[in-house]
Amino acid sequence: MSTVIAGPREPTREPTREQAPEQTREPRAPGFWQSTNGKKAAMAVTGTILFLFVIGHLAGNLQIFDSRDRLNAYGHLLKSLGELLWIARGVLIVSVLLHIWASFELWLRNRKARPIAYAKKKSVASNYADRTMYWSGPIILAFVIFHLLEFTAGTLHPGAPAFSDTDIYYNVVAGFRVWWVSAWYIFSMILLGFHLRHGIWSAFQSLGASHPRHTPVLKQAALWIAILITAGYISIPVAVLAGWVR
Ligand code: HEM
Repeated sequence: MSTVIAGPREPTREPTREQAPEQTREPRAPGFWQSTNGKKAAMAVTGTILFLFVIGHLAGNLQIFDSRDRLNAYGHLLKSLGELLWIARGVLIVSVLLHIWASFELWLRNRKARPIAYAKKKSVASNYADRTMYWSGPIILAFVIFHLLEFTAGTLHPGAPAFSDTDIYYNVVAGFRVWWVSAWYIFSMILLGFHLRHGIWSAFQSLGASHPRHTPVLKQAALWIAILITAGYISIPVAVLAGWVR
């Protein structure tokens, strides 16, 4: 039986973790929120919550085509949720704030990474879409504020002498009979469509659901989802202006 005798040990070149002096340790990895990927994931998650609201809200609003009673019953149902409604509102508000905050930090980070502006701006598609996000976002926010003042708080009620707490149908039809109110909605819904299209696509990427082979399908899916949602919302002011809903 042969015995294997261990040779002299190689001198250890790297100090062990315990021996390493404090200053030679790797700098700590940034927290998830501090990282670009963390911010993108936060945008994707909050964007998905807002997206689900936009779909649910559209489904509720389209009941205007059924009847006045049906739309008003939907409004009643929401109000009867009591505390649940406030919890949902809280989740929406936090989502909007985080979505804006993360987008602002990403924008700052992009600017810092590229302190000297391009002599000639690149016109690549992604660059265009990114720029669209940064101005469509604030306009959509302005729209939502106007919208809440008009249909939830009732502070603004162009087209109606007074706001009704119970007759949502009346508030909507009276408001959309005013051409500039409808025009403002249609314009904002088109921007919402652009925002959703790029947002859905970005969320697929940030949440790791994209693969080069699936890219064209996912892009088409994002485009069609955005078109359907936009068309659904726009159909309401158009129907009121055309006199189909009165
Ligand atoms: C034609 C388009 C739209 C119509 C007719 C419409 C109609 C309404 C109505 C009637 C209410 C008040 C509901 C109630 O008090 O029971 C409301 C609330 C609301 N809408 Fe819209 N909406 C439209 C588009 C949108 C869009 C595109 C968004 C978001 C981007 C949005 C966000 C909201 C929010 C956040 C509330 C408050 C919900 C709550 O907390 O009670 N709406 N909408």
